[in-house]
Amino acid sequence: MNEMSLLWRCTKNDYDISMSQSDEFLGRNGLSVGSLRLEGRAFLAPMAGVTDLGMRRLAQDFGAALTFSEMLDAEFYTRGDRQAAVRAQSAGINLHVVQIAGCRSQRLAEAARLAADSGAAMIDINMGCPAKRVTDGEAGSALMRDLDLAMQLVRAVVAAVKIPVSLKMRLGWDQAALNAPELARRAESEGIAMLTVHGRTRCQFYQGRADWTAIRKVREATSLPLVANGDCTSLDAARDMLRASGADAVMIGRAAMGRPWFVGQVARHIAHRPPFPSPSAEDRHVAAQQHYRTLLTIFGREKGMRQARKHLSAYAAHSQNRRADELRERLVRSENPAEVEALLGHLFEDERIAA
Ligand SMILES: Cc1cc2nc3c(=O)[nH]c(=O)nc-3n(C[C@H](O)[C@H](O)[C@H](O)COP(=O)(O)O)c2cc1C
Repeated sequence: MNEMSLLWRCTKNDYDISMSQSDEFLGRNGLSVGSLRLEGRAFLAPMAGVTDLGMRRLAQDFGAALTFSEMLDAEFYTRGDRQAAVRAQSAGINLHVVQIAGCRSQRLAEAARLAADSGAAMIDINMGCPAKRVTDGEAGSALMRDLDLAMQLVRAVVAAVKIPVSLKMRLGWDQAALNAPELARRAESEGIAMLTVHGRTRCQFYQGRADWTAIRKVREATSLPLVANGDCTSLDAARDMLRASGADAVMIGRAAMGRPWFVGQVARHIAHRPPFPSPSAEDRHVAAQQHYRTLLTIFGREKGMRQARKHLSAYAAHSQNRRADELRERLVRSENPAEVEALLGHLFEDERIAA
């Protein structure tokens, strides 16, 4: 166990006791996906440019049952692209899920094999990305407009690896083509082990509210483990989302930025354990500091500092510090790691004094 999670468990005795009881309870409320046994029902979503190794490690250590890699373009990944290799890093991740995207079955199969040979526990195929540069290449959510091609890809990936293969999709391309249930049914018959549905269409991008009730149509179409995704921003929202969708688990993306502990809190909440307090200011400080240091290590100083800005900004946004706005400005502008560490100290120190 690393420094941060030890701290989180040890700073408060009551916390320690309820954490371990809860973890046992979570184990009993886990989920089987193919050959995998998951200890809990809340996952960290794949987010390109966000769910770097530092963030995935923290989410896992705070109790996320699964953490998904950023999307890897199968073409780049199989050609040995350095950025793809960084995205695929998994040191310290127990159940490493690699998400791949593409529209050529041979390449996707090769990418899946490469990930499995590098230690992945599960492969996730992206059929939900709405970005034009992805859908113009017939990948991501564009595959929801060509289910025959989508099935060719699924078949190739499932045949290429022995580990479970999951699929992430949206409700459909647009309101006139809500074909997630059909894609789900066909994917199940081709050997997919788990489905995630983001409750928006491709044409909605991120607008409006995710429709959790619409996900229920996928629940009715398959008996696969089903994960609901989109707008899970609070503990109560997670329960509402499960109730409305009939899903087995929730996947959390943006709401975990700046608070990677949130996924674990949701996992315990939906397992009907008493609500858990947020980690102390000290634990959050250690987590943010650890995240920052991991980024500098995996990306190098210059790129690491750039990559860190969105996270530093998000940590500040979730801080109770009255000077958080001012500190946030300084954190994202600083070009000096020692200064960033000192500012992080101030961000959390004042909270500790106020507590
Ligand atoms: C910055 C960003 C990057 C994303 N990258 C990916 C990705 O690589 N793969 C993927 O399947 N979804 C990606 N998504 C979508 C999320 O996984 C998730 O489906 C979406 O944000 C809705 O969930 P949320 O409301 O909990 O954030 C991304 C979302 C954001 C905001």
